[in-house]
Amino acid sequence: MAEFKTLPSDAPAAQRLLNWVDNRFPLTKLYNEHLAEYYAPKNFNFWYFFGSLALLVLVLQIVTGIFLVMHYKPDAALAFASVEYIMRDVPWGWLIRYLHSTGASAFFVVVYLHMYRGLIYGSYRKPRELVWIFGCAIFLTLMAEAFMGYLLPWGQMSYWGAQVIVNLFSAIPFIGPDLALLIRGDYVVGDATLNRFFSFHVIAVPLVLLGLVVAHIIALHEVGSNNPDGVDIKARKDSAGKPVDGIPFHPYYTVHDILGVSVFLLVFSAIVFFAPELGGYFLEYNNFIPADPLKTPAHIAPVWYFTPFYSMLRAITTEMVYVLMACVVVGAVLGVRHSGLRTLTKVGVVVAAAVGVALLAAIDAKFWGVVVMGAAVIVLFFLPWLDRSEVLSIRYRPSWHRWVYGVFVVNFLVLAYLGIQPPSPLYERMAQVGTLLYFGFFLLMPWWSRLGTFKTVPDRVQFAPH
Ligand code: HEM
Repeated sequence: MAEFKTLPSDAPAAQRLLNWVDNRFPLTKLYNEHLAEYYAPKNFNFWYFFGSLALLVLVLQIVTGIFLVMHYKPDAALAFASVEYIMRDVPWGWLIRYLHSTGASAFFVVVYLHMYRGLIYGSYRKPRELVWIFGCAIFLTLMAEAFMGYLLPWGQMSYWGAQVIVNLFSAIPFIGPDLALLIRGDYVVGDATLNRFFSFHVIAVPLVLLGLVVAHIIALHEVGSNNPDGVDIKARKDSAGKPVDGIPFHPYYTVHDILGVSVFLLVFSAIVFFAPELGGYFLEYNNFIPADPLKTPAHIAPVWYFTPFYSMLRAITTEMVYVLMACVVVGAVLGVRHSGLRTLTKVGVVVAAAVGVALLAAIDAKFWGVVVMGAAVIVLFFLPWLDRSEVLSIRYRPSWHRWVYGVFVVNFLVLAYLGIQPPSPLYERMAQVGTLLYFGFFLLMPWWSRLGTFKTVPDRVQFAPH
């Protein structure tokens, strides 16, 4: 236990109060460790706004969510009308609802940009592997949160979107149908589904999300932030033991982040007040029609942030399973020909490939679609070990690496676009190529990330005061 500190009786009352608290709870210690004496690299740029913005949107979603729950009815017979009631009759209800629905899309915009920053600056590399892994878990949880929240307005898209996605689980061999039944609580999406999704959306998943965000930030503050140069600022410290390229988070980055927050709020408010549906991308038009279990909409598409993954799901046709088999075989041949592997490992590779091909042949393509969609997120967890580049930041990688990242981003956007469109033979083929490119980027990374001439990483961060 820390020693009790006493202040002279003539010390200011506020100081004595703080001392009283500090003797019982490490308030000043926490403030210093995480803000006033948390040294962050001085060369943060635009890309470093998105962590604090993600925190802002998280708080916004929780606060607006609390007010929505005061008026929303999680009952299949009342849910749709209760949302209309919020929009029309509850004072400022329309604003609360639009803040929450726009907030959901904003969350994904911010998180995608935040993840992209991690990707280009190698922020997932040692010693930040756990920061990244907690981040990936946040991303998965966020997807679950958004998916369950989308059922709550009980519109046509809420209903049929949930129907399609929950039905996917029934493609899992042996346990699939029972699992889908367990998730729905009924043979079709219904009142029981709405009740359980509501419970998960308002309490269970947000608790997990908050816990993960706390873990994410604790892990980050343990190892310290990366920066656009990928230089370790802890390697050079002044006589007082402070990193020479670091500045205290508060006040420098708290003020810096206010700029990011201001610009974000300008754009965000413009959408909330002038285009809350954003042309059907943030709120789909079909969702203004009450759920009708007897009438399937002609075209069911998930909200934009799920569409890259949805595209990959739809890309896995029976034909595509043959391509996957070929990929497994090519992978095994390359493994066997690799001089660095021991004979026993090579035997293991051949057996694993044979089992893989047999399973691909035996189980329906629909199941492999689900596997590929899941794998597209799970592969992110392994990034710290897939990247073998000599340097962290894209700034010091071979110039052509920028093209690789460029193709990855364009491909991801094309997949997102294809996921919104009704299926067609051309789009199906494009999504299949896109899926191969997406996985190729990650699975071939141990190979391509080492190639080329790397630039010399400077000792100190590159920083021009402005
Ligand atoms: C609710 C969602 C999230 C919140 C509130 C959040 C919050 C933060 C904050 C405040 C920072 C420090 C400031 C900054 O570097 O921008 C940070 C850093 C970081 N986050 Fe997140 N984050 C979230 C999601 C994610 C996700 C989904 C990933 C990746 C899959 C991720 C990966 C990282 C990494 C690698 C860093 C360290 C970056 C560096 O030092 O260069 N985060 N996060």
